[in-house]
Amino acid sequence: MLTLHRINPHLVWLGHAVADYHQICDVRGDILIGVSKTFYIETFGCQMNAHDSEKVIGTLEHEGYIQVSDEAEAGLILYNTCSIRDKAEQKVFHRLNEYKRMQGEGKQFGVLGCVAQQEGERIFERAPYVSLVAGSASYRNLPQMIARLEAGENRITGLDDRQTDQTFDTEFTARSNPHRGYITIIEGCDKFCAYCVVPYTRGKERSRTSASVLVEARRMADQGFTDIQLLGQNVNSWRDPSGRLSFAELLTAVGNISGIRRVRFTTSHPRDFTLDIVEAIDATPTLCDHIHLPVQSGSSSMLRAMSREYTRDWYLERMSWIHAAKRDISITSDMIVGFPGETDADFEQTITLLGAVRYDAVFAFKFSPRPNTPAVGMPDTISDELKTERLRILNDRQREIQREHYARHLGQTVEVMIESHNPARGQIVGRSTQNKTVNFTLEPGVPDPPIGSYLPIHITRTMPNCLIGEAIAGSIPSQTTPKAQPFVVLN
Ligand code: SAH
Ligand code: SF4
Ligand code: F3S
Repeated sequence: MLTLHRINPHLVWLGHAVADYHQICDVRGDILIGVSKTFYIETFGCQMNAHDSEKVIGTLEHEGYIQVSDEAEAGLILYNTCSIRDKAEQKVFHRLNEYKRMQGEGKQFGVLGCVAQQEGERIFERAPYVSLVAGSASYRNLPQMIARLEAGENRITGLDDRQTDQTFDTEFTARSNPHRGYITIIEGCDKFCAYCVVPYTRGKERSRTSASVLVEARRMADQGFTDIQLLGQNVNSWRDPSGRLSFAELLTAVGNISGIRRVRFTTSHPRDFTLDIVEAIDATPTLCDHIHLPVQSGSSSMLRAMSREYTRDWYLERMSWIHAAKRDISITSDMIVGFPGETDADFEQTITLLGAVRYDAVFAFKFSPRPNTPAVGMPDTISDELKTERLRILNDRQREIQREHYARHLGQTVEVMIESHNPARGQIVGRSTQNKTVNFTLEPGVPDPPIGSYLPIHITRTMPNCLIGEAIAGSIPSQTTPKAQPFVVLN
């Protein structure tokens, strides 16, 4: 039996007619699809990729396709890929090899995303059964590419170079969560850090207008979304092409939309991080008290080698603005260990930075040499053993810091958005505005609060990675019912 994820809102599912074949009619009653056009999509990588997939799904649905959750049932198999580190890229080719066994079944295959852009037509050589290779800067041409696929072409590419000025704005976004949704406000990257593929895989930095972002945010609020996350590889490098709003003003404007309770933004870049962002958070309760501001290294000489274009002190000055805020703003970061030439003294600077900032979470990675980037050819490479050792030391130190730092929440009341129920552990899982996971229990006999509702929780225990608490007696979950984007699963 076909498993339907979502149905295009323009289509009507004839539930009674599914015994032998799938019959879908449009609103006028014309049969559009006898044996349906189905697709399966798998996504790797960052939130931008996850959101790109939501837009690809929406676009395909608009073209009459139905998403299925089992690749065996799909006519078209899409793989949205990530190339940030070598391991991520290896995964793609491993998966493509697995697809090989399905090539005799008349299925079509497409590779999207960052590996598609990076490898281009070489993908056809490594996996000749792939018919479509498209990077994210070309998704706006998807309907044409899909039409060519349907016409039987088998070497279709969407590999716009990095010069494009266009963003991929579409009203056909199939958001997978009816309460929390992403909006990409800026695409691409012009920073060219020495280790990073993103400027090559996503093209040049290009922003959407404030008007188009606000229209989308208002539409989402009308649909019942209460939590909006603004996305960009460097979200705070956003510059309004219409010149109306600064980034901090855009945050405030989204936060002031009626019905929106939480606004997040990620990832911020230290170079474009300005004091007015902290002031906006202080002044606007709906802006979440969390800033993800990756430092990459605590050593100024490593930062120079990485072409980050700031120093340790410059970064620490931004930290002092955040530490001085009226609200307790949670700070998180990404770090790279083992960049070429990183000495013990450089690494020690990274460790001391952890203590100076007291992050709430750090995502640390071993440096991975990437194609096309300047760091590939740099001398003084660090052995994998040493990278592993430094990663372990960094993670151990950070865990100690988090154990101490999370303890500040003991005894506090923290509002959470309900994410899931964990009946096996008798717990409910929620997320705080600081983006922390809160596992909590209810009083006996109290019904589970609905997913997407908000509830105040009394924190009774803290761990290095999460908070534990109890719902406050008598508190009633506050909820907005999603109005559109029906989520349909038929088995
Ligand atoms: N634009 C963001 C980061 C996007 S990539 C910024 O500049 O902060 C996400 C993270 O992957 C980076 O912060 C970095 O820590 C890591 N990363 C990127 N390229 C890498 C590489 N070649 N090796 C290891 N980690 C890498
Ligand atoms: Fe990569 Fe640097 Fe751009 Fe971030 S700012 S995406 S690390 S090049
Ligand atoms: Fe990966 Fe591309 Fe995102 S390389 S991290 S999917 S921008």
